[in-house]
Amino acid sequence: MTIKQTEILESNRLFHNKRANRHDKVNSYISKNGCKRFYEKLFIQIITKENTVIEKSSILELGCGTGNFIEFLSTQGTASYVGIDISEKMIDRAKQKLLKLNSSSNISLYAKSAEDFIEEIKLKNKKFDVIFSFSFLHHLFDPKRFLHSIEGILTPGGVYIALHEPNIFTMDKPDFAKYIDARLAYFFGYDTLDSNFLLRIKKIVFRFLWMLFGRIITSLGRSNSVKDLDYIDYQLNFGNFNLIEIIDLEANQSIRIYTKPYGYFVFGLLKRFSKFPNNYFYLVIKNKNYL
Ligand SMILES: C[S@@+](CC[C@H](N)C(=O)[O-])C[C@H]1O[C@@H](n2cnc3c(N)ncnc32)[C@H](O)[C@@H]1O
Repeated sequence: MTIKQTEILESNRLFHNKRANRHDKVNSYISKNGCKRFYEKLFIQIITKENTVIEKSSILELGCGTGNFIEFLSTQGTASYVGIDISEKMIDRAKQKLLKLNSSSNISLYAKSAEDFIEEIKLKNKKFDVIFSFSFLHHLFDPKRFLHSIEGILTPGGVYIALHEPNIFTMDKPDFAKYIDARLAYFFGYDTLDSNFLLRIKKIVFRFLWMLFGRIITSLGRSNSVKDLDYIDYQLNFGNFNLIEIIDLEANQSIRIYTKPYGYFVFGLLKRFSKFPNNYFYLVIKNKNYL
């Protein structure tokens, strides 16, 4: 592991340890039922599309945080659920939740990095039918390498579903203006409960300023000094994360990867119930290497 990678892992651990108590309150995808249901539905849609049978599947959740998907995932008739997270405080919260759930399912939770966990289970030659992550990939030092490593721990026909990736700060694109344009069109194209025109303008201006701030920080080379808060969306802000690159993995015949922006439109509707979520990509890897 490089020093940089160790720093990223450690800053993720520290930040999420600090945030563990507030995590469920500050994330609309947890605190707002409509938003949470949206992602659960999306998960089921993908599973169905991939012809994956969730019943009797072994499930691994990477970066499971406070365990917001444990109940949902473990009540799908799955054979087992393993959740891992680098933050021990997040895992503590997940364990508390599990106690309340009083579930008889085969559930295990571990505080460790996804990178280490994958290495360990590769040595044990263990594989999973369904691997799931939510708002997780963009925290990694090297998402592309990580995605390659997933290949080795999926059963034949197994599927990895990464939801909520990445976010609006992924502005490091040549067609930046077009990208912003589309967002603006979106912003003006739906009604929200707080449909006050000035309020919307303010939000847009704020987003611009925030994005510019990210760009300035990037150009100042802050990426070299990973501080407590710099970890977040690290890959996105610092321009190393490019979904097109990931799609290149398609060259490997046994793995199919695609990404899809799934919806400012949907989020427009969700806005009625929740804060506007930024992250709008999902990614699916399927191990088509059947026996
Ligand atoms: C934005 S939170 C999402 C948590 C959870 N998936 C949810 O939806 O509530 C990202 C999580 O990824 C974890 N994480 C970050 N880097 C990690 C790594 N390398 N290995 C394992 N977990 C990691 C963090 O500790 C944090 O709990």
